Amino acid sequence: MIQLPNEFVQTIKSVHKKKGEQWLNHFNKLIEECEARWDIQIMSPFPLSYNFVAPAVRKDRKEVVVKLGIPGDEFNNEVYTIQQFNRRGMVGVIDVDFKKGILILERLTPGTMLASIEDDETATRIASRVMKALWVPASESLQIPTSEDREKALLKILMENPEGIGPITKETLQEASETFTALNKSIEKPYLLHGDLHHYNILSNCSDSWTAIDPKGLVGDREYDVIQFLLNRLPAENLSAVIDKRIALLAEELDLDTHRIYSWGFAHSVLSTCWSIIDHENYDEAFFHSIQYFWDHRRPM
Ligand SMILES: Nc1ncnc2c1ncn2[C@@H]1O[C@H](COP(=O)(O)OP(=O)(O)O)[C@@H](O)[C@H]1O
Ligand SMILES: [Mg+2]
Repeated sequence: MIQLPNEFVQTIKSVHKKKGEQWLNHFNKLIEECEARWDIQIMSPFPLSYNFVAPAVRKDRKEVVVKLGIPGDEFNNEVYTIQQFNRRGMVGVIDVDFKKGILILERLTPGTMLASIEDDETATRIASRVMKALWVPASESLQIPTSEDREKALLKILMENPEGIGPITKETLQEASETFTALNKSIEKPYLLHGDLHHYNILSNCSDSWTAIDPKGLVGDREYDVIQFLLNRLPAENLSAVIDKRIALLAEELDLDTHRIYSWGFAHSVLSTCWSIIDHENYDEAFFHSIQYFWDHRRPM
């Protein structure tokens, strides 16, 4: 029987409330069902955050990865997005059960996270190659959230917290909301984006190749998709110098508009900090300081 770490159990309960409790109550049955249905043995999980993810071995000794999430829009969007990317820079799907929230993925080996690369320039170059492989112009028919949905999410937070939330003042919330609107109005060509591309969602696959996992799925400006990467693995000091370098390299390699990066950076780091406060009553210091960084660099829209 798999013993779920306490912290993971608490996250599931605090994010998904009653649905999360029900899912936890049926968890052991779900594992048994997966093992029988795909003829696999599920091993100890990887370090867990929002979903149960574990390696598994099939009868023919082939290794796969089992990802179990609470069924619903978020799970569906992730799977649709992985399928849309169709293995270009993205891990491949072996099978899926949308109703039960079961995803069977190809296992990436060795599967080392990009976060393990110490040299920031090397990590940024690898990330830029993955972004180049991933991004494709979005077709009209895509049923995936857009950056306008993110704008609406921030507007809702503003409506529900008219005096600000945690360390975010009402003026900052308002500015971020207006920035979202201005950016969304001026997107020239929407792309299918990963939506959560950072150092922990890019894994090594064979000797010199790196592959993305765990997309949220987003349709929008390419410049939006570099923000999560910019916000992660930042030093406690000299944050600006590191972000400056990352932006210069990504803008050059991917032909991006740096001013749009700063503006998306401001809008998104505000939204992301709000999400952390709402989900965990806590926020990441580096994310919070990045708000000021992006604010100082942006050109009013
Ligand atoms: N296809 C895969 N191959 C190898 N390891 C994987 C694979 N998918 C996920 N992992 C491991 O599991 C961890 C959590 O998976 P992830 O999809 O990022 O879950 P979450 O949605 O909870 O963030 C990853 O950081 C990675 O270490
Ligand atoms: Mg992840």
